[in-house]
Amino acid sequence: MKILVTGGAGYIGVHTILALVNEGYIPIVVDNLSNSSIEGIRRIEKLKNTTIKTYICDIRDAEYLSQIFSENDIQGVIHLAGLKAVGESCSDPISYYDNNVSGTLVLLKTMEKLGVANLIFSSSATVYGNPKTLPIKEDAKLFPTNPYGQSKLMIEKICQDLANKTKLASKNAWKIALLRYFNPIGADKSGVVGEDPKGTPNNVMPYIAQVASGKLERLSIFGNDYPTKDGTGIRDYIHVMDLAEGHVAALRWVLSIKPLISECRAINLGTGSGTSVLELLSIFEKETGVKVPYVYSLRRSGDIASCFADPSLAHSLLGWKASRNMAQMVSDTWRWQEQNPSGYGE
Ligand SMILES: NC(=O)c1ccc[n+]([C@@H]2O[C@H](COP(=O)([O-])OP(=O)(O)OC[C@H]3O[C@@H](n4cnc5c(N)ncnc54)[C@H](O)[C@@H]3O)[C@@H](O)[C@H]2O)c1
Repeated sequence: MKILVTGGAGYIGVHTILALVNEGYIPIVVDNLSNSSIEGIRRIEKLKNTTIKTYICDIRDAEYLSQIFSENDIQGVIHLAGLKAVGESCSDPISYYDNNVSGTLVLLKTMEKLGVANLIFSSSATVYGNPKTLPIKEDAKLFPTNPYGQSKLMIEKICQDLANKTKLASKNAWKIALLRYFNPIGADKSGVVGEDPKGTPNNVMPYIAQVASGKLERLSIFGNDYPTKDGTGIRDYIHVMDLAEGHVAALRWVLSIKPLISECRAINLGTGSGTSVLELLSIFEKETGVKVPYVYSLRRSGDIASCFADPSLAHSLLGWKASRNMAQMVSDTWRWQEQNPSGYGE
């Protein structure tokens, strides 16, 4: 079964491609390579001894996208393409709404035109903003605090409206899973693919890995005065392969819904437990034996104290549960970093 994966060359994309191949699906990649390279896909081809059809295409290019759908018998779409840096979304909101929202509209129009109504969408825990209660359930108040999070919420609402529209459909009823990711880290255990951020990493795990490898001097911990156990921010870190397998579980669920039934469900993908930055650092040092120098800096605007999921819906609805622990997340990150000090290289 052919599944189109937009943004398939990116960090979560390559791991999702791997999970799809492991489960016997045929992924077709669409990516404009604005934040990735083709190398990740090539490495998966080598690892799995297969060929992955890849189109260098911007999802806002309606004509090319239609052609790709027409050339391939696509049964469902995993939509990961988008811009994802919170800070950049505040300084350049138009690019974020254009890429994320307008891009998704072009994709949805194309899917509707060509009768493909099965969709898995990459949403984010940022749609919750600063949560009132923890762990966060899917019915918590949605209050994104930056344009990136707003763009994800807008797309969620568009998807909900589409599913409402086809509630009484005679054919092609939309079936949509809105996956709200918490904090993906780690890499496939092979060490051949991983996170390869352009420039200085925005996220803590690749930052720690680059300090440990000597590429960066020291880690800046943004804020040690949060109301948490040690004053540093708490997040729900999830192994990227668990997350990738969550997409396959969501795809299976979507494909199992009867043709005339339309569905649109928001589903948290997290582990359900929170880890502070200092705890993450200490696990990293224990697992790798490498000391990571750090300094405390001021809080970053828009950051929150604590955020972790209630992942029970994913378990009951999709039969999926994260299975890899923090030690695996950290040692898999380190293997990737050590084997690929320059990421995918040029
Ligand atoms: N990584 C995280 O912490 C995280 C957390 C929550 C949600 N998400 C979401 O998951 C998705 C994937 O994230 P990621 O970490 O793999 O990011 P990434 O930047 O590594 O991957 C995104 C991919 O989309 C491609 N892309 C961007 N705009 C495109 C366009 N208009 N047309 C075609 N391709 C385009 C990029 O080249 C890149 O390969 C994103 O939508 C992101 O918002 C990520």
